[in-house]
Amino acid sequence: MIFITGGAGFIGSNFVLDWLSQNDEPVINFDKLTYAGNMNNLASLRQDSRHIFVHGDIADTAQVASLLAQYKPRAIINVAAESHVDRSILGPAAFVETNVNGTFGLLEATRAYWSALTNADKTAFRFLHVSTDEVYGTLGPDDAPFTESTRYAPNSPYSASKAASDHLVRSYHHTYGVPALTTNCSNNYGPYHFPEKLIPLIITNAREGKPLPIYGDGQQVRDWLYVTDHCAALRRVLEAGKPGETYNIGGWNEKTNLHVVHALCDILQRLAPKAHGSYRDQIVYVTDRPGHDRRYAIDARKIERELGWRPTESFESGIQKTVQWYLSNQDWVRDVQSGVYLKWLEKNYMQREAKPEASD
Ligand code: NAD
Ligand code: DAU
Repeated sequence: MIFITGGAGFIGSNFVLDWLSQNDEPVINFDKLTYAGNMNNLASLRQDSRHIFVHGDIADTAQVASLLAQYKPRAIINVAAESHVDRSILGPAAFVETNVNGTFGLLEATRAYWSALTNADKTAFRFLHVSTDEVYGTLGPDDAPFTESTRYAPNSPYSASKAASDHLVRSYHHTYGVPALTTNCSNNYGPYHFPEKLIPLIITNAREGKPLPIYGDGQQVRDWLYVTDHCAALRRVLEAGKPGETYNIGGWNEKTNLHVVHALCDILQRLAPKAHGSYRDQIVYVTDRPGHDRRYAIDARKIERELGWRPTESFESGIQKTVQWYLSNQDWVRDVQSGVYLKWLEKNYMQREAKPEASD
């Protein structure tokens, strides 16, 4: 079986659902259930004995060690993290706690477990660490996309904590021989995306007649990847990736934030037309994110060349599916919009002053 951490979050739950749709190998899903963890994402697996959920913190080395001894997984996929840049700006401590100390705790339990395996099991074992393109910092408009040898230059407490976790993983391979791999992926989108991130926030706010907040001038660029393409890439790295290597994963889909928001407004206008005016009328320019990285772009040629993975979804098809999913899953959205979520919206947006309209 495989052991995944953070499997109740956005990417983790998509990975678990995708994994069990592809094969019958059981999954131990270990998650702390922070505000971002949501068991409703896994509702379709409630009666499925291939999915074993355990509540816990990756920083708790003793609990992880006892689970590894009990279930004897052949691989660990570390998806658990604090993942939202804005939250890391307003409260960085939780990011150091989970992304740095937590990864360290998980690695310690893994090292002890792996060291005691037979030689054959040791060779077959994999520790796959799921990381981000944000560790590479920011690009200028004409810079080449990030490759696996781009120097780390994290700019937010989130990306700095992820960079630290990547370094720890690297060191456990080089020093102790743990067969670890790291993936650095660009922005994901799709079903079960918590509506504090740009795409689900815009869809839910638009439907509720609320402002659609654009940070700064909206010309920041992100490289968007449909989440199931990311899941397929992770499966492929687990299957054929070389221990000690890192793989960049991206969608070859660079878009400005304003382009993304306009696309969402236009799809919504077609699928759920507003009675008066257009969803674009709800766009509001607000104070920028401090230290906001201007552009991310991934060069995903290594994973294509060495492992044969390429994204299958175009931005146009993926974004259409995503809007459709949110429109068809209003109960999921309502459930997520609890008191904790409302408090976050107040904390993040009340302090942002509205600005005069920027040009498209
Ligand atoms: P998310 O915030 O939606 O989910 C994180 C999950 O981890 C939640 O279920 C949460 O309960 C769990 N968790 C948090 N702290 C934990 C702890 N100490 N112990 C156990 N579980 C804990 O995040 P996401 O967007 O799904 O991102 C998952 C991973 O992928 C992160 O490592 C992130 O850095 C990386 N990543 C995300 C994106 C993206 O666009 N979302 C892109 C590239 C990489
Ligand atoms: O690049 C990979 C990263 O992508 C992951 O490592 C992170 O976990 C993930 O959250 C995501 O980070 P971003 O900061 O790029 O995602 P977010 O959805 O928060 O913001 C996307 C862009 O939209 C960013 O330039 C900020 C902008 N934005 C965001 C929000 C929430 C707005 O303009 N307005 C908003 O209200």
